[in-house]
Amino acid sequence: MSNKYHIITFGCQMNEHDSENIGGMLEDMGYENCDDKDNANIVILNTCSIREHADERFYGKLGQLKKKRLGDPNYVVAVCGCMMQQEHIVKNMKKKFPWVDIIFGTHNIEEFPRLLQTCMEKRSKVKEILSDRDLVPERLPSSRLYKYKSFVNITYGCNNFCTYCIVPYTRGREKSRSIDSVISEVKFLVADGVKEITYLGQNVNSFEDPDGRDFTDLIYETNKIEGLERIRFMTSHPKDLSDRLIKAYADCDKLCNYIHLPVQSGSTEVLKRMNRKYDRDRYLGIVRKIKEMVPDITISTDIIVGFPGETEENFSDTLDMIKEVKYDSAFTFLYSIRKGTPAGEYDDQIPEKIKHERFDRLLNDINKITADKNREYVGRIEKVLVEGISKNNKSKLVGRTEGFKLVSFFGEANLIGEIISVRIINANTFSLEGEML
Ligand code: 5AD
Ligand code: SF4
Repeated sequence: MSNKYHIITFGCQMNEHDSENIGGMLEDMGYENCDDKDNANIVILNTCSIREHADERFYGKLGQLKKKRLGDPNYVVAVCGCMMQQEHIVKNMKKKFPWVDIIFGTHNIEEFPRLLQTCMEKRSKVKEILSDRDLVPERLPSSRLYKYKSFVNITYGCNNFCTYCIVPYTRGREKSRSIDSVISEVKFLVADGVKEITYLGQNVNSFEDPDGRDFTDLIYETNKIEGLERIRFMTSHPKDLSDRLIKAYADCDKLCNYIHLPVQSGSTEVLKRMNRKYDRDRYLGIVRKIKEMVPDITISTDIIVGFPGETEENFSDTLDMIKEVKYDSAFTFLYSIRKGTPAGEYDDQIPEKIKHERFDRLLNDINKITADKNREYVGRIEKVLVEGISKNNKSKLVGRTEGFKLVSFFGEANLIGEIISVRIINANTFSLEGEML
């Protein structure tokens, strides 16, 4: 019987992809993936620091492992990810969870097999956290979540220091891979059946290859890859979005007509205090240009509600913003104090009650806009990459349009992985329903 691993991932796509890499390394060592933490020999928790809620969920999950770990000396518990890059958290872990076997950070995931071996051979606790990395890891093994689509890291870290955000402290300074190495990874993935890739970075727009080539160059190069059908990317920082990239949407047939463009706030005053380096008008100008170049583009965003000092007037600028842009979807977050960030120290924090009340109003408005936008799709024919069987109805399939909209329709499982034409027949707030042509 082979050894089994189970990974619990919190947070963003970057973490999801790190978990795919950790899984790939374990499979190279002969481990098998397992859905159940109680039947695994090793459990890895990949943590997220972005908001307090993620911290709390992690501690809850970790607590559930204590009994089994203390009763079974061969059970290994490893913890990694963004939370482990914060000193006060690691200190607290040692005090409250001394039974955790391995702790490592975001800058050395490729060292995990060695750390695991040391832990097993010496039967000792292992902790290895680096404060940054010199070189970016190239091509780690990966146990992909999906056979037909894949994430590809192109940059690591972030230099932007938005005043609310912990990421520059947990993921270190921004570093880019070389275009040649990214392209060879994509070619390898395509040969392995991948049709859609999503380039990942905290700010893909500031990607810079060691030869000085930029993100748009990477898109044009990727568009030439035979057999690849779709290119996506996230996340774009509006301050660095170039006109050349907007033009690439028109030139590159594989680049999907979708962009995730976090606005964070519709108020120029708040944006300034967030250190976002664009104002309301500049953001709207970018959106206008994109819509002119790609009339059927779908746009999603991230919005923070209740940033310190946010007045009712500032908040109503955000409500206006979403009506003006007409986002296809928006991820909304209550501002969460992060220790060590500038905004965490601001003394004009917004009371929880006001934050929640604004959050509900925003969500209500966004859901209406999202539903209206989805209704516009009824009657259209969309190309859908079939991803799998619907969780709600086993005789239905689900997939994504080019614009990243989720569509369900009746069909056979042998279509999974195919790109097919679907007529949209019904629209809900968060998904579409269609019929195959
Ligand atoms: N509080 C609330 N939301 C945050 N985000 C980042 N930091 C915080 C925080 N301290 C949100 C931003 C970002 C998304 C990934 O998470 O909107 O774009
Ligand atoms: Fe955080 Fe801003 Fe960097 Fe995004 S760009 S990871 S919000 S600091």
